[in-house]
Amino acid sequence: MLSEIGGLSVTSQKSVLLIIGGGIAAYKCLELIRLLSKAGIKTRAILTKAAEQFVTPLSVAALIGEKVYTDLFSLTDEAEMGHIQLSRSTDLVVVAPATADLMAKMASGLATDLATTALLATDKPVMIAPAMNVRMWGHPATQRNLAQLKKDGVKVIGPDEGDMACGEYGPGRLSEPDAIAAKIIDFLKGTGNKPLTGKKMLVTAGPTHEPIDPVRYIANRSSGKQGYAIAEALAALGADVTLISGPTQLDVPGGVKRIDVESASDMLAATTLALPVDGAIFAAAVADWRVANSSDQKVKKKDGALPDLTLAENPDILATVSQLKSGRPELVVGFAAETQNIIENGSSKLVRKGCDWIVANDVSPDTGTFGGDRNSVHLITNDGVDSWPSQSKAEVSSQLAKQISEYFQGR
Ligand code: C5P
Repeated sequence: MLSEIGGLSVTSQKSVLLIIGGGIAAYKCLELIRLLSKAGIKTRAILTKAAEQFVTPLSVAALIGEKVYTDLFSLTDEAEMGHIQLSRSTDLVVVAPATADLMAKMASGLATDLATTALLATDKPVMIAPAMNVRMWGHPATQRNLAQLKKDGVKVIGPDEGDMACGEYGPGRLSEPDAIAAKIIDFLKGTGNKPLTGKKMLVTAGPTHEPIDPVRYIANRSSGKQGYAIAEALAALGADVTLISGPTQLDVPGGVKRIDVESASDMLAATTLALPVDGAIFAAAVADWRVANSSDQKVKKKDGALPDLTLAENPDILATVSQLKSGRPELVVGFAAETQNIIENGSSKLVRKGCDWIVANDVSPDTGTFGGDRNSVHLITNDGVDSWPSQSKAEVSSQLAKQISEYFQGR
């Protein structure tokens, strides 16, 4: 069965575990459940003790058409469906309203009641819709917890800005039920088609920092956006993605495992450890050189004398992996960031490095590619060159992920 809501549709098999937190906005969950059910999505619900002060288990149960769960130590509930199974027999876990307290517990990995235990035990994607007083939302502790949750791959909806039940104004209002439902439906729609399920993918992204001494380093302007978007696009197609990232300001895409590194040597070590994989995409802007005589102590400024830095060539991670005699990934994709003769330089890089595909792009300053949000690329393979139109980095990533999945399906 296919149901429609706000122009979106989703098949009836999908299910959501809704964890209702204890905030005044909890009443909006009743409308959310109604919208999800209208879209053919099955909802199971857990109410925290505080949530029961705002909505009754009976109202929620009446709307979802089955019992709701409230107690970690209920022998009857555990006998019917244990909390582990409850947290995993779903496509998505949604916390709404996510109170400051629930967010703090999630960020610290506490499991003090059924809701937090289910959140810690789940292996499914988690979405939260925060709602709280504006000062609680702006508090450094909440913002710290939010950053941690995003780093853990939790997706965040809202909060909205506006009048609050407590009489104040600002960000902290629960997003409207139709907006939350739309995000859930959007997400669930994407979970149907997963051609890369079971495939292990490795993506390198971002710049590397090559230390001069403990406080200084050589770096480049890579933002990591393209590599992160590729990791996200591959995960959206069901791949098991390890993202090996140099220093960036970006959040970990949902469902992606990130390993943070600093230098090219660290990146090579982390890459080697992450093997074997089915496919590897090398989108990192690895520094070509490192400081061979980097110092363990801060180099002191001496009158007029310049530091005596000796550069050494960094290991080429792409070439190393491409030329592995055993354990080479089936598909190795490199990037060629060029400012001139893009296709020619990209093609010779394909041969020189020994990889299977090269994504060549123009990074001349006037294109705004480096650090920007758009990219214009050519996919170079042994079969020829496919030039893609200028599009967002997310669109480039989706097209590349699709091409990768077609490659694996064709094998
Ligand atoms: O040689 P160049 O830096 O232009 O090659 C770019 C490609 O090689 C990118 O895919 C980049 O991630 C990869 N690379 C690497 N290790 C290096 C240098 C580049 O993996 N040391």
